[in-house]
Amino acid sequence: MTLAKELESLAVDIAREAGELARVRRTEGVAIAATKTALADIVTEADREVERLIRARLADARTDDGFLGEETGAERGQSDVTWVVDPIDGTVNYAYGIPAYGVSIAAVIGEPTPGEWETVAGAVYAPASGEMFRAARGEGAWLGDQPLTVNADVSAAGALLATGFGYDPTTHAGDLARVGRVMPMARDIRRGGAASLDFAWVASGRLDGYFERGLAPWDHAAGSLLVTEAGGSFAFVRDDSERSRHLIVAATPVIFERLVDAALADET
Ligand code: IPD
Repeated sequence: MTLAKELESLAVDIAREAGELARVRRTEGVAIAATKTALADIVTEADREVERLIRARLADARTDDGFLGEETGAERGQSDVTWVVDPIDGTVNYAYGIPAYGVSIAAVIGEPTPGEWETVAGAVYAPASGEMFRAARGEGAWLGDQPLTVNADVSAAGALLATGFGYDPTTHAGDLARVGRVMPMARDIRRGGAASLDFAWVASGRLDGYFERGLAPWDHAAGSLLVTEAGGSFAFVRDDSERSRHLIVAATPVIFERLVDAALADET
């Protein structure tokens, strides 16, 4: 078995266990533990507990690897591998009882900085639906036992696209202007509320494309590999120094360039 496959398999096992814990905690009721970057940016007790579980399982299985988690921070490892983890992506959905949330676990190689690293394996698990999306570099992307492929064609009615809005209210006017520019090429727009699932849905052809500014590394580390292993395109489309906060576009190659052009038009 290749290293990528081994890491994928570990990510899948841990994502399933972590997702089950999140699902059970949801049935018991959700407590908001704190707010983070903005009042709308929340963390629940479950986010913290689930990340602790993932971190402990990874430390047991791969002692030398590094870790970068949304809730418990970063630790450099001795090996080339860093695990990039969002314990509950879609926390606001989770807190409101909307079932669109996911556990996202990625193994990356290289400097643990988006744009510098290469994701080699990843799992995105949606506990409410029981869907497990997984990918290993060079080995394809899968939903359970089904290989994933991005859409080969886009309807004459336009592309089905998704986006998201960060928690910082000062960026919302720009985000809405971008939606306005993209709308002419869209048949409709979705705002699902969990970036990892948006990527998984592009990979599985449920969406033609997805764009969002300001994603954090744990939002896209696993999802980006799902998209590219399913034959899609993924890019940070603004080449500034602080890449993790910039516009990300993931789509079927059929519309990728058009979506990038529309999303960026008039941006300074
Ligand atoms: C958020 C979700 C949301 C996206 C935000 C992310 P979180 O992640 O993925 O869809 O629009 O940018 O921060 O906070 O729920 O882990």
